[in-house]
Amino acid sequence: MKKVYLTHPLPSASTAALAAECELLCGEAGAPLADAQALSECVGLVCLLNDRIDRALLQSLPQLEFVSSISVGVDHVDVAALTERGIALGHTPGVLVDATADTAFALLLAAARRVAEGDRFIRAGSWRPDQPWSPDFFLGKDVSGATLGIIGFGAIGQAVARRAMGFGMRVIAWNRSPRVASAVEIVALEELLQRSDFASVHVALTPDTRNLLDAEKLALLKPGAVLINTARGGIVDERAVAAALDSGALFAAGFDVFEREPLPADSALLRHPKVVLAPHIGSATAQTRAAMVRRALDNALAAVRGRPMPHCVNPEVYG
Ligand code: GLV
Repeated sequence: MKKVYLTHPLPSASTAALAAECELLCGEAGAPLADAQALSECVGLVCLLNDRIDRALLQSLPQLEFVSSISVGVDHVDVAALTERGIALGHTPGVLVDATADTAFALLLAAARRVAEGDRFIRAGSWRPDQPWSPDFFLGKDVSGATLGIIGFGAIGQAVARRAMGFGMRVIAWNRSPRVASAVEIVALEELLQRSDFASVHVALTPDTRNLLDAEKLALLKPGAVLINTARGGIVDERAVAAALDSGALFAAGFDVFEREPLPADSALLRHPKVVLAPHIGSATAQTRAAMVRRALDNALAAVRGRPMPHCVNPEVYG
């Protein structure tokens, strides 16, 4: 029987169909893949977005025929190295669109209206009679009537646009490849940054988008803008964001993803009260995560059966 390695335990009800057609071996949650002896006997690997799959690891896995990641993003995988070896890579697009768009909008609203800062203020016992309600107490930024620039107008970017329109925002967008039919105005990235009161990042992390929003680009944002990132760390220069917050060039920021995860204790983002932080929970609802697991296991099952994965990142491996 073929062997397939799961880097993280999954509910047995979800793995039953796959377990009927191959032997499933399971690693311990969080254990480094390089130490997983059993993996070298496996034809398949079902992994998470924090399992790094690079050339060095692949060299130790001569039998590997497929990788199925329980994520839509695949920046943790050396796709070119997989493709060279004819190894198919599956991912989970589609099912996490609304959950991730909700997270982006939650961060946008929380950053604009200082919700997390207010929560900390109360818990710290700072809301005292000498700090009462007053006309200029905890002022935030209006969302309604503001312009939202969406950086990356794929499925998640478009879902964020629908939410923003419901909140009375004007929406503009930038996309790497031109989009012909779009309900919103598509503009150049520089123009988007210059016109946006809020900017939200929704591109995948690739060599082309790494550091896309560097200090120079961030400086183009309207004074007092709010920046949201639910896409991937590495697309936005976090130190430049911290500096822009320090100088007041940015009003606030909302980040769900970071260059290094878990976020290191010395991250510049941590010292800013106007940064709303979330621990990479864009898709974290029970329903969405179950759908992602189903999609990843469907990909794995197809591969075990010698068929093309329904959601394959590198379909060229099928010739
Ligand atoms: C989440 O970040 C994903 O890529 O699925």
